[in-house]
Amino acid sequence: MQPGLFLTSDGKLPARYSFYVASEEGTKGQNRVRRRVSRMNITFLLNGETVELADVDPTATLLDWLREDRGLTGTKEGCNEGDCGACTVMVTDEGGAKALNSCILFLPQLHGKAVRTVEGASGPNGEAHPVQQAMVDLHGSQCGFCTPGFVMSMVAGHAIGATDHDTQLAGNLCRCTGYAPIVRAAKAAEAQPVPVWVKDKPVALAATSPILPGSSDELADVYAKNPDATLVAGATDVGLWVTKQLRDLDPVIFLNRCDDLKEITITDDEIRFGAMVDMNRMGQALNDLHPSYAEMIRRYASVQVRHAATVGGNIANGSPIGDNPPALIALDATLHLRKGNTRRSVPLEEFFIEYGKQDRAPGEFVEAVSFPRQADRLKAYKLSKRFDQDISAVCGCFNITVADGTVTQARIAFGGMAGVPKRAAHVEKALIGKAWTVDTVRAALPAFAQDFTPMTDMRASATYRLETAKAMLERYYFEDRGEVTNVLEVTA
Ligand SMILES: Cc1cc2nc3c(=O)[nH]c(=O)nc-3n(C[C@H](O)[C@H](O)[C@H](O)COP(=O)(O)OP(=O)(O)OC[C@H]3O[C@@H](n4cnc5c(N)ncnc54)[C@H](O)[C@@H]3O)c2cc1C
Ligand code: FES
Ligand code: FES
Repeated sequence: MQPGLFLTSDGKLPARYSFYVASEEGTKGQNRVRRRVSRMNITFLLNGETVELADVDPTATLLDWLREDRGLTGTKEGCNEGDCGACTVMVTDEGGAKALNSCILFLPQLHGKAVRTVEGASGPNGEAHPVQQAMVDLHGSQCGFCTPGFVMSMVAGHAIGATDHDTQLAGNLCRCTGYAPIVRAAKAAEAQPVPVWVKDKPVALAATSPILPGSSDELADVYAKNPDATLVAGATDVGLWVTKQLRDLDPVIFLNRCDDLKEITITDDEIRFGAMVDMNRMGQALNDLHPSYAEMIRRYASVQVRHAATVGGNIANGSPIGDNPPALIALDATLHLRKGNTRRSVPLEEFFIEYGKQDRAPGEFVEAVSFPRQADRLKAYKLSKRFDQDISAVCGCFNITVADGTVTQARIAFGGMAGVPKRAAHVEKALIGKAWTVDTVRAALPAFAQDFTPMTDMRASATYRLETAKAMLERYYFEDRGEVTNVLEVTA
């Protein structure tokens, strides 16, 4: 079965109908009235069984559908915004098995994939999955509310042979057991084989609906005709617009079936990430090229969010505190945009015009971001209140080249210091052409106040931001000299 859609005669996605339906759906799941918009048909595997859904509301979440329509209440709702992991499910697609937060996963994102919930973790005859048995044996649960989410994160980690349990479980919160018994259980299950019943195969299905285009060409066509549509990439921002702001998004276009936007190209000259490359793959690709950047991505949200969030979404949302833009600007990145058949490229730093305003025309989308292949001089410092699963208060990225003891090139960019991700132009100027010494670095520090007038908010005060930005430059210098700078560094 192919996904279907109600289209208008000129190929446009239908505008919102002028009436609302409160009865059959408004009372289910979400405390909002669902409208009839560009509905579609989807097919996916749920705990091994094929599910075909017709006329799906594109912004219905998997969590609501599981609990309210299917009665699968093992999957819990905690925060409903991707923070706590209570709603974790395992989704298998062509990229393998991964843990995802079902509260910010829209049903159309599942077309052609396999979903496993906690009800499907145990075998057909009630056999416990090895991680479930280990949770029982090692007392990994008390009140039990968080347990299905932990179990599904562990099932997904076990399926791919992951042994970095602190990282795998950083997106799951437990209020009563404490994490030690849970991590012990994950470790105990490591040696057990993956049960055959959780080895899901994704359903091979083409995506032919205009709201679920199957390539960037199809996306370019439908978006140019519907420039008012909301693009949905990983939905780690857009999901919250629906679950927290109760916004009606109408119409929407999903990018997750545009496989050509998921390409990573590494040549001798250039590194290029398609807009739909998720944070997990991006971090893996950067491990050897720019390890400090990869380490920062390891601290980007949680495993569940990193599996969904895309680099294109992290740039296009224009956030002043997104983690990728400062690192990419420091690497001299170029953003590639497309509208219909017209393409253009802009230096990434010029894409961010002011808070809430980017250089993107209606109907234009981010196709890729690229930067020159270069010797690794990048350090990306993320400062946040928690080590994992936290947005940066300040994110400072430094790419300084030194030849024969003199600074020949400096690209320094910050998140959290202005209304947009921004270069420290005065600081750069104060360094370039000078001897790479502590005196030069200290003489450059006052220039931070020329570059930035940060704000005070719940994450940090303006003074703290300015002082820590300066400290980051000093840290870069001393690290570069091989001196220990982080004796109190917290590691997971
Ligand atoms: C629990 C949690 C933790 C988080 N932690 C972090 C963190 O540590 N660091 C961080 O930087 N962010 C964090 N975020 C924010 C979020 O993950 C990012 O902003 C994310 O990268 C957005 O990407 P997405 O693919 O999910 O985008 P979506 O939510 O799908 O879209 C975001 C915006 O970009 C637009 N868009 C998406 N793709 C394109 C495209 N190709 N072209 C044009 N427009 C496009 C959408 O229309 C929308 O306006 C967190 C979010 C959550 C829920
Ligand atoms: S309910 Fe908290 S992450 Fe989904
Ligand atoms: S067992 Fe109670 S919240 Fe984890």
